[in-house]
Amino acid sequence: MPGYFITFEGGEGVGKTTQLKLVAEELRKKGYDVVATREPGGTILGEKVRDILLKGSVDKMEPMTEALLFTAIRVNHVSSVIKPALEAGKIVLCDRYADTTNAYQGFAHGLGIDNMIKLYKFAIGDFEPNLTIIFDIEADKSHGILTEINRFESMGNDWLSKGVQGFREVAKLFPERCVLMNSVGTVPTITNRIMNILNEKLGI
Ligand code: TYD
Repeated sequence: MPGYFITFEGGEGVGKTTQLKLVAEELRKKGYDVVATREPGGTILGEKVRDILLKGSVDKMEPMTEALLFTAIRVNHVSSVIKPALEAGKIVLCDRYADTTNAYQGFAHGLGIDNMIKLYKFAIGDFEPNLTIIFDIEADKSHGILTEINRFESMGNDWLSKGVQGFREVAKLFPERCVLMNSVGTVPTITNRIMNILNEKLGI
């Protein structure tokens, strides 16, 4: 069985994390071997750097420092978790991945999506997700399930709206692998919507 690398992306409080857990359960019920992981994180090193990235004052580091740190731990995550799972024929579901760097550091912080794509190619190479589901919702209409507010969620509504816009730009740049999904609806409705997308795009 071929492995599939599927990323869940989108703004803050859109319900990605809840859905990723539910979709992992649905896929396991269908008999698939699923690895659920996240960024920043997914490895011991990544979880440590996650704390550095998410905690503390908004201006504690430059956007480029963020971009490089997210990318550095992505290299570690891809080589020690994601690629081995795919080689073993598993389905990898990842809560955020490089498109958040494109949308947030590239677009919202203004480093340029094109520069973030170059950085990705230099660090990771040709490896890309098979499918990226972008949870699309207006920043002011998100489900409001922000529990612990992290550094990024403290950057203000304008910045969060730019992030949402950044994901729409990403969807235009990578139409072959990205699905911009309306994420308004009840939890089971959205799970169904995602399962339908997986079936339509990857036959799973
Ligand atoms: P998390 O609590 O996982 O947020 P969410 O539940 O919204 O996914 O925190 C991850 C934060 O890190 C999130 O606010 C977005 C930010 N981030 C970036 O800015 N760039 C990146 O490349 C990644 C992976 C995350």
